[in-house]
Amino acid sequence: MALQAPEGTRDLLPDEAKFWTHFKATATDIFGRYGYLPIETPVFEQTELFVRGIGEATDVVSKEMFTAISGQNLATLLDGGSIKAKSRLSLRPEGTAGVVRAVVQHDLVPQGAQPAKLMYAGPMFRAERPQKGRQRQFNQVGIECLGAEEPSVDAEGIIMLMRFYAAIGIPVQATRLLVNSMGCDACRPAYRDAVKAYMDEHADELCDECNRRAELNPLRAFDCKNPTCAAIMEGAPKITDHLCDDCREHYEAVKTYLTSADIAFEEDPTLVRGLDYYTRTVFEVQVTEGMGSQNAIGGGGRYDKLAEEVGGRPTPGFGWALGYERCVLALEAAGQTIPPAQRCDFFVACVDDSVRAEAFSLVQAMRDAGLTGEMDHQHRSLKSQFKLADKLGAVAVVVFGPDELATGKAKVRNMQTHTERLVDLAAVRTLLARFGGDPYGVEATSVDELFGNLGDE
Ligand code: HAM
Repeated sequence: MALQAPEGTRDLLPDEAKFWTHFKATATDIFGRYGYLPIETPVFEQTELFVRGIGEATDVVSKEMFTAISGQNLATLLDGGSIKAKSRLSLRPEGTAGVVRAVVQHDLVPQGAQPAKLMYAGPMFRAERPQKGRQRQFNQVGIECLGAEEPSVDAEGIIMLMRFYAAIGIPVQATRLLVNSMGCDACRPAYRDAVKAYMDEHADELCDECNRRAELNPLRAFDCKNPTCAAIMEGAPKITDHLCDDCREHYEAVKTYLTSADIAFEEDPTLVRGLDYYTRTVFEVQVTEGMGSQNAIGGGGRYDKLAEEVGGRPTPGFGWALGYERCVLALEAAGQTIPPAQRCDFFVACVDDSVRAEAFSLVQAMRDAGLTGEMDHQHRSLKSQFKLADKLGAVAVVVFGPDELATGKAKVRNMQTHTERLVDLAAVRTLLARFGGDPYGVEATSVDELFGNLGDE
C-alpha cells in the first residue's frame, strides 16, 4: 500500500495552501495596523522551556509533546550516559513560550522601553488523539505583546482577533467570546485552596483524574469532560468571587473597553484554559454550531510571570493564538468555500510545431507583464490544447497558426463568449511592454484590454 501522511497531519493541497497564504497575509495586514511585527522562532526548543513556561502538570507538557534528543547524545544515552538539558528538545506545542524566550534572549523590551508587539504563524505539534478539528500538527496564527500590563492591551488584542475572523469570512454571530480573570499571585493561591477543599469534600464522586488534579492543579478540573465531574465543578467556588482589588479593577476595565468597542462577550468563571502561565485575563472564542467538541477557534490571555519563569526580568505579557484548521472548519460550517487556487488569464495554442518558438516567446512576454498563462508542453492536438485551456479556466486562448503568423497576426478566442478576433502581434507586444514595468499590477481585466481593443472583429 502507498504510504500515507502520519496520523493527525494533513497535506495542504494547492487550493488550501494558497488560502493559508492569503490567511497569513490578511493577519499581517490587520495586526500590522495595531503595531504587531512578525517574528519567527524555531519549531523546536529545549524541552525545559516548555516544562518551565507552560507547566509540567499540564496535559500539553506531560502527555502531548513530541520530544527528541539530538543524535550525538542518543549514543551516549545508550551507553548509559546522561542527557544534557540542552540536548533534550521538543517540537513546539504552542508559540508563546518560544516568543517569550526570544524576547528575553534578545532583550527586545529593555527597561522603560515601549512594549514589543509580535505576531507569528506556523505549525505547532501536540501528540493528541486525532479527531475532527484536533490534529497532531496544526497551524496557529498568534500575537504576543510584552512589556505592558494595562487592560487596554488585552482589549485591543481581543478586538483585533474578532476583526480578523470577520475579515476572513467567519460571521461574528456564529461565534461566542468567553472571558474570565484567573487572578494573580496575590489572590489565586487562596482560590486554589478553596477549590481543592471543595474537591476534597466531593472526592468520592470525582473521577480518578480529577482526584489527582486536586493535588497537582485543582483548577484543571473545570476542564474535565466527565459529566459527573462537570456537574460537581458547577458548584465549586468561582474565581470572580476571590479576585483581589487590583485584579478585579483590571478585569472590569477590560470588559469596559470591550463593551465600548461593541464587542459582545459572555463571562465564564469556569474558563481556566489548559496552560499554566496565565494570570488575570483569559478568553476563548468558540463557534456555536457545526464544529462538535473542538469548537474553540482561538484563545489566550495575560501571562505576567512567564518572562521571569524562563529567566528574564519581570515583563508583563498578553497574547492569543487561533487555530487555522479550525477556522477553515468554521468557514465550512458557515457555508463558505475556499476559492480555487488556479487562475489562468490566457493559453497560447499552436496549430503545428512550426510556430512553437514564436508562441513560446509570447507566453514569456505575457508572464513578464504580470499575466498568468500556460501553453502545451506535450505536442497535443489543437483540440486537446483547447480542452486543456478550458480545464485551466483560461479567459482567452491565443491560437498561433503558420498562415496568420506569416502576416504578423494571431487568432484570439474569448473563452466565455466564444467569439474570435485577429490581433496584431506587434501591437500586443507594445501593450505588454507597457505592463512590464509593474509585473504584479496587472489585473485580469487587462486580458480584455489586451485582446479586446486590438483586434478587428
Ligand atoms: P491554545 O488554546 O492551546 O492556546 O491554542 C490556540 C488555538 O489553537 C485553539 O483555540 C485551537 O483553535 C488551536 N488548536 C489547539 N490545539 C489544536 C489541535 N490539536 N488541532 C487543531 N487546532 C488546535 C495557545 O496555544 C496559547 N499559546 C495561546 C496564547 C498566546 N496565550 C497567550 N499567548
